[in-house]
Amino acid sequence: MKRILLMVCILCLLMLTACTPAPAVPVETYDDMIVVGFSQVGAESDWRNANTRSMREALSEQNGYRLIIDDAQQKQERQITAIRNFIHQGVDYIVLAPTTETGWDTVLAEAKAAGVPVIIVDRMIEVEDDSLFTCWIGSDFRKEGDAAVEWLAQHFGDEPLRIVHLQGNLGSSAQLGRTQGLDTGLANHPAWELVYRNTGDFTQAKGQELVEALLAQGMQFDVIYSENDNMAYGAIDALKNAGLQPGKDVTIISFDASHAALEMVMAGEISFDVECNPLHGPRVQAIIEKLEAGSKPPKLTYVEETTFDAATITRQIMDGRGY
Ligand code: AHR
Repeated sequence: MKRILLMVCILCLLMLTACTPAPAVPVETYDDMIVVGFSQVGAESDWRNANTRSMREALSEQNGYRLIIDDAQQKQERQITAIRNFIHQGVDYIVLAPTTETGWDTVLAEAKAAGVPVIIVDRMIEVEDDSLFTCWIGSDFRKEGDAAVEWLAQHFGDEPLRIVHLQGNLGSSAQLGRTQGLDTGLANHPAWELVYRNTGDFTQAKGQELVEALLAQGMQFDVIYSENDNMAYGAIDALKNAGLQPGKDVTIISFDASHAALEMVMAGEISFDVECNPLHGPRVQAIIEKLEAGSKPPKLTYVEETTFDAATITRQIMDGRGY
């Protein structure tokens, strides 16, 4: 009897070992360093590059961090794989700049089960259980869209306007909020007409390609509402190549207010640019420091942002900006 019992125990032990996942094996051991896995959307825009730079500078080795960056090339499935790799590597924190709002529940539940805090930056996520992330810091994209529409209303009132809308990546908070702002403006101004809407994926090449195609088919329009600066640069190139003057023949509204775009505001080519602040590195550093010290950062933090047009931009303002 004793022998049978012993064999049953050994069998149970063997089964238990087989079911237990392999312990997270760190790729290297970083003594005294805080290891952060950063899943970045991609390198689609000046904004994004400034954001990556800001993270690198703040979470540097000098500051006591080992930062592992994964570029998802604008694909959510790549971000999910990167998060799983970070968990497996045994990082101390995961920072996620999400491509889209939805689709994160499963992988973030895995991070939570592994005890890895997740900090969301830039765009927002939509999850069933908000304990799946520690905190979020980013922009109020809806407010940005409303600011753009308010400027249009102040400058054109209820004049008839034919609007071309270049959207960002569909399903991202930046696209959703800025599109909601415009949709509300269209509903409140019956003389405004949406003549074209398509996604330019937040890239300059796609912005140019879309506007070139519209011009080639002879479409007439008064305003381009471009959901980021890089698509606006592409649109401006397309207009100029067709002999049109941006800012005169077509009013350009844009978002981000990166350095090159503000030069265009000064030159009168972009009429209005809504700031979207990419400098999240020091903010994430401050959050991690708080968590390390055992205190709790606020769950949601919206960063302060402003707007620019020819009347408000100055060289002095431009020189004092970090992106
Ligand atoms: O989420 C922020 C947006 O993403 C920026 O407006 C855009 O340039 C970037 O790609």
